[in-house]
Amino acid sequence: MRKAIYPGSFDPITFGHIDIVNRACKLFDHLTIIIANNSSKNTLFSVEERVVLVKEVFKDNPKISVQTYKGLTVDCARDLGAVSIVRGLRMVTDFEFEFQMNLANKVLNDDIETVFFMTKVENSYISSSIVKEIHQLDGDIGKFVPIEIIDALNRKEN
Ligand code: COA
Repeated sequence: MRKAIYPGSFDPITFGHIDIVNRACKLFDHLTIIIANNSSKNTLFSVEERVVLVKEVFKDNPKISVQTYKGLTVDCARDLGAVSIVRGLRMVTDFEFEFQMNLANKVLNDDIETVFFMTKVENSYISSSIVKEIHQLDGDIGKFVPIEIIDALNRKEN
């Protein structure tokens, strides 16, 4: 059984992330989505809310579990018996950050391989912040996030 983890802040999860998850599921027997708990980001959704939302989005996929983790990502992978960390690459601007993180993770634990998926062109410009901004300004975010997330963002506003 080849397991992988997909860490990120997912504030909120978008179709860009969902595409990476679905493609990673073709390579791995099980994928655990790790909702970052120690990010320096000021998030809109609490970590508990993000876990609930991501679970809701993937409720019909038995290959996926969702949880949070407080320590290092490589330690999380080791603890879960995962062989890989999955990450998505959108623009070249992602590369430098991902390269640095990958190098650091390799020093921390050389047994864990990071696997990168190139985003689809139509998702290459999406980010959680852009989605939140468009929604806040009453724009249509239906092309960026699933209905569960639109509902959750609407609830946050009210
Ligand atoms: N589609 C759409 N958007 C995507 C995307 C994709 N395929 N891939 C990334 N993004 C967006 C996210 O929406 C997010 O947007 P935002 O900045 O507007 O919120 C942005 O790109 C950053 O993505 P994310 O993957 O969530 O990265 P992050 O910087 O928030 O989190 C961690 C990075 C959590 C994986 C990393 O900090 C980590 O591993 N931390 C744990 C501690 C640790 O081990 N530190 C040592 C690492 S060397």
